[in-house]
Amino acid sequence: MSKSTSDQTVRNPSDTPAFGSILERNLSRRAVMRGGLCALAGLGAASLAPWAARAGQAESGVTLGFASLPASMTDACVVPPGYVAQVLGAWGTPLNDQARPWDPDGGNSAQDGLNATGMHHDGMHFFALDDSASEGLLAVNHEYIDQQALHPQGPTQPDGRRPAEEVRKEINAHGVSILHIRRQQGRWEIVPNSRYNRRFTSATPMMLAGPMAGSAWVRTPFSPDGTQVRGTNNNCGNGTTPWGSYLTAEENWANCFVNRGERAAHQRRMGVSDKESRYHWESAAGDPSEQQGEFARFDITARGSDASQDWRNEINGFGYLVEIDPYDPDSVAVKRSAMGRFAHEGCSFGTPQAGKPLAFYMGDDARFEYLYRFVSDEPWDPADARRSDRLAVGAKYLDRGTLYAARFDEDGSGRWLPLTPQAVGKDGRRLGEIFGGLDGIILNSREAADQVGATPMDRPEWTATHPINGDIYLSLTNNSKRDAARGANPANPRLDNVNGHIVRWHDDSGSDAFAWDLFLFGSPAGAPADVNRSGLTELNQFASPDGLAFDPRGILWIQTDNGIDGGRKNEVARRINDQMLAVVPQALSDRQGSGPAIGPAEQAALRRFFVGPNEAEITGFAFSPDYTTIFLNVQHPSNWPAYDSDDATVAAQGKVRPRSATVVIQRVDGGKIGV
Ligand code: FEO
Ligand code: CA
Ligand code: CA
Repeated sequence: MSKSTSDQTVRNPSDTPAFGSILERNLSRRAVMRGGLCALAGLGAASLAPWAARAGQAESGVTLGFASLPASMTDACVVPPGYVAQVLGAWGTPLNDQARPWDPDGGNSAQDGLNATGMHHDGMHFFALDDSASEGLLAVNHEYIDQQALHPQGPTQPDGRRPAEEVRKEINAHGVSILHIRRQQGRWEIVPNSRYNRRFTSATPMMLAGPMAGSAWVRTPFSPDGTQVRGTNNNCGNGTTPWGSYLTAEENWANCFVNRGERAAHQRRMGVSDKESRYHWESAAGDPSEQQGEFARFDITARGSDASQDWRNEINGFGYLVEIDPYDPDSVAVKRSAMGRFAHEGCSFGTPQAGKPLAFYMGDDARFEYLYRFVSDEPWDPADARRSDRLAVGAKYLDRGTLYAARFDEDGSGRWLPLTPQAVGKDGRRLGEIFGGLDGIILNSREAADQVGATPMDRPEWTATHPINGDIYLSLTNNSKRDAARGANPANPRLDNVNGHIVRWHDDSGSDAFAWDLFLFGSPAGAPADVNRSGLTELNQFASPDGLAFDPRGILWIQTDNGIDGGRKNEVARRINDQMLAVVPQALSDRQGSGPAIGPAEQAALRRFFVGPNEAEITGFAFSPDYTTIFLNVQHPSNWPAYDSDDATVAAQGKVRPRSATVVIQRVDGGKIGV
């Protein structure tokens, strides 16, 4: 999330202590108790055996082999010496002959857009074809749009109504692209007209599965039985599954809708406006070309006698993780409602263990919203990793299970709190009584988490699972509203967390307990020690960590998004563009000492690998299986890429219509990235 979709309003009314105050007390305690192992006591005796075994486990031994980059603020990307960076699949790149080439004057049609890459690239994943390191399917999210860049002169609304063609063009620029890509002579390219190339947009029909499917909440004139939804929206971060499918996360979907009547509590909590929608798509309703209320559905005001007469339930089909099988071009995407309904940022799964349930971790990116875990009912069968009916495997593990919200405790322990009908809320009532069954709990995931006393967090973004030791990492991007909103400890500037930090924990899918510690604090290099707790220097200062991904070697890649507050409002953002850093973490269970895991003594461990062009966020991470190529996304640049070169490090000449794009990074010598 960033810039035009940002929503800084605090809507969480919970009085449960927020993560900032828990963290402050935890850091004070650590200083007294010394040593992360204190926290392990919180897991209880039953959980200690796996910990003891893990503490002696060898780590990957990988070391970073590049020098940290200096700051940069230009209209170009920067990579370390010996690396090259190529622009791939920039917004509007045709996937087939149905689309005309991208028009630098903004003149492409909605139909072109349906057959080309979307805008504002975000989460992504590389799915190898036949285990190849040089050919595969790149799934790329398109989070939102820049209306100014999309249309020749920006959006229009003559006589108060958006033209249908403009609205369709915007709808088609959202969603997900599946790109068949291959490497030839060291260059990656999209395979034109491949049968794998496809687009999912904000209008593509998809299935709804899990507790919401068929419920009264999701019945619409389009889907009277409540099993289908049109479109996926505002696809931010991503996840994958152990069986090789893609998960795309619906984040800031709420303000694509307007409810001019009485808004339900969950609509107010999500930020649905009673005045106007973000893009006014509903204003095109009644156009002679409109099909099945394709525009009207964005106005969810209850006007008819019931849900068959209006679009009141349309919005209830959004806010989910959506599973896509990129390998099957004929497959229909499925919204997995059992995994909760909120501003989904992304999803990572815990290390699968045969015979044990699978666990998935998910952030809800809004101020003071929660961290969630979904645990499957079905124990993991490793044979399912090799099945080709991936969405059937998805139904097995993702449609039945338990959703939890996290409570962090100051002693370094934590608890996953189940959001089940039987769970008892703060007022002594069961969640089933309050929300009316599991479908009502899912619909009101945030409110259910309030009830059980989950810990309000500082905008939880991506999660990432350490490939060797199974620790889970979470970026808490920033929260400059902390003091004003909560009245918490205004004397301590650290609590006004404008720079963000990364927390991590370890748990077991069979247990509700976890142990956590603080991995890394964002900060300007010159800040006082109680702000710059990780001792960052000019060569690795960062703020607003957002994208987070481990590669299988144990390198953690950290991406930043400082755009949220409308520009360069923190000190780091005034000194450097958004960036990607790399670090090789040691295990949480091996911790000694009282501060964050990365402190002043570990500065060589955290290195800046990439700096983006002006005003762009860096997000999304993928790699080829041989580690010789990594992919990242440059989102919402202001004046990039260059028109006459696909070299991402070349600055544009003059002022160009900007295009979000994937950047492909390789070594000149063809070696492995980062080492
Ligand atoms: Fe789409 Fe929370 O970033
Ligand atoms: Ca963000
Ligand atoms: Ca993000």
